[in-house]
Amino acid sequence: MTNSLAVAVLAAGKGTRMRSRLPKVLHPLGGRTLVENVLASLSQVKTERQIAIVGYAADEVRSTLAHVTNLEFVEQTEQLGTGHAVQQVIPALAGFEGNLLVLNGDVPLLRPETIAKMVQTHVDNDNAATILTAQFDDPTGYGRVFCDENYIVTEIIEHRDCTPDQRANKRINSGIYCFNWQKLMTILPHLKSDNDQNEYYLTDVVKDLSPVMALDVDDIEEISGINNRKQLSDAATVLQRRIKDELMLSGITMLNPDSITIDATVTVEPDVIIEPETHLRGNTTIAAGCRIGPGTLIENSTIGENTTVRYSVINDSTVKGAGQIGPYTHLRGEVVIGEGCRIGNFVEVKKTTIGNKTNAAHLSYLGNATLGNKVNIGAGTITANYDGYNKHPTTIKDNAKTGSNSVLVAPVTLGDNVTVGAGAVVTKDVDDDCLIVTRGERRVIKDWRPKFVDQQQTNKE
Ligand code: UD1
Ligand code: CA
Repeated sequence: MTNSLAVAVLAAGKGTRMRSRLPKVLHPLGGRTLVENVLASLSQVKTERQIAIVGYAADEVRSTLAHVTNLEFVEQTEQLGTGHAVQQVIPALAGFEGNLLVLNGDVPLLRPETIAKMVQTHVDNDNAATILTAQFDDPTGYGRVFCDENYIVTEIIEHRDCTPDQRANKRINSGIYCFNWQKLMTILPHLKSDNDQNEYYLTDVVKDLSPVMALDVDDIEEISGINNRKQLSDAATVLQRRIKDELMLSGITMLNPDSITIDATVTVEPDVIIEPETHLRGNTTIAAGCRIGPGTLIENSTIGENTTVRYSVINDSTVKGAGQIGPYTHLRGEVVIGEGCRIGNFVEVKKTTIGNKTNAAHLSYLGNATLGNKVNIGAGTITANYDGYNKHPTTIKDNAKTGSNSVLVAPVTLGDNVTVGAGAVVTKDVDDDCLIVTRGERRVIKDWRPKFVDQQQTNKE
């Protein structure tokens, strides 16, 4: 017999108790959907086929999972039970030889090691089925697994179908199984729905297969399913603890880790310090030597080595390294900041590329702009990039310096070494090495006020 492995993920249910428009398996947990977390637990086994069984909001589930390579979908149009769900993969697996791993789309905390161990146990013992089980202090609601001292299973009985004596059994069925597909195929098509719920129970195959083995998990958190938002939040707490513990042990310092959240999809290199109230999300990478936070949100961004980011929000951007970002900087997307830049207090940047050693330290908006190296953006410089209909580009070349409170009306280019006077409104390109001043001449009118007051008095009389 071959040991190839196919996987079926049960993801057809609505998840009524979530009280949500969104199908349960698409609720987010740690930066991915529940079902994506389940698929991530397959990282240590080699799978030949991966099949998601979809039903409720099938199109939404399919499109959310469209990025997963080699994932196939089969539809269970009516949800008639877990056995009925697995029956739906029979046509897709015609001719398949090997084992079928069955996972629930709402059990997102399984460790890859656990799946690998289960499959190995299944193969080593040449089992007809291997079931992941656990001893629960409160097994209410779960199917009970009955086995002998060698973990050979005779039967699984749903909580609602148990006698009071049977309910005293605390070994529960996690709903995660590995089956010898050929053996399962002799039973699966013939399931009956003569139970309390009139459903086709996958668990019913057990009494007709042999040998079936129970494998207790060490950490029961791994097999807890998500049925409501309270359990979703509990799972998020467990996942956060796992992610942060792992990061700390790999050489990252966290100050007040309870106040920090980090998605499972984030990469943090050793020797990073993460300060309180910091949240790292999505496809984010933080390189060695960075100090992030306090009070910072970074999403889908790459922060290069030795960068400091304080009290800032960064989305879809890259900071190359050795930079100082914040306090109160907003990099709003499609921003690239070169090496050694200081982007500071109350500076908002959007769709802008900045060279090396360039500073924009105070109170600026830079949008649709390209800045060279060693540019200094003065306090209050604004790129006026939007005319109400279109966005226009601004180019600021190497060593240029903008004066405080200057407005660069795009499209406009400032050449190398340009200096912009304070308060200038620049509407046309400025050549290399020029100073541009757009203020009126200074005029001081002496003793203006007494004369003005006199005039007003006269007017009144
Ligand atoms: C099931 C097990 C039970 C186990 C528990 C663990 C059965 C009969 N019982 O019970 O022994 O302790 O899981 O959590 O299998 N689904 C479909 N199509 C269907 C029905 C269900 O895709 O027609 C999906 C659900 O969306 C869910 C999973 O299968 O992700 C489990 O179904 P659910 O009805 O929640 O089973 P339980 O009653 O919890
Ligand atoms: Ca369930």
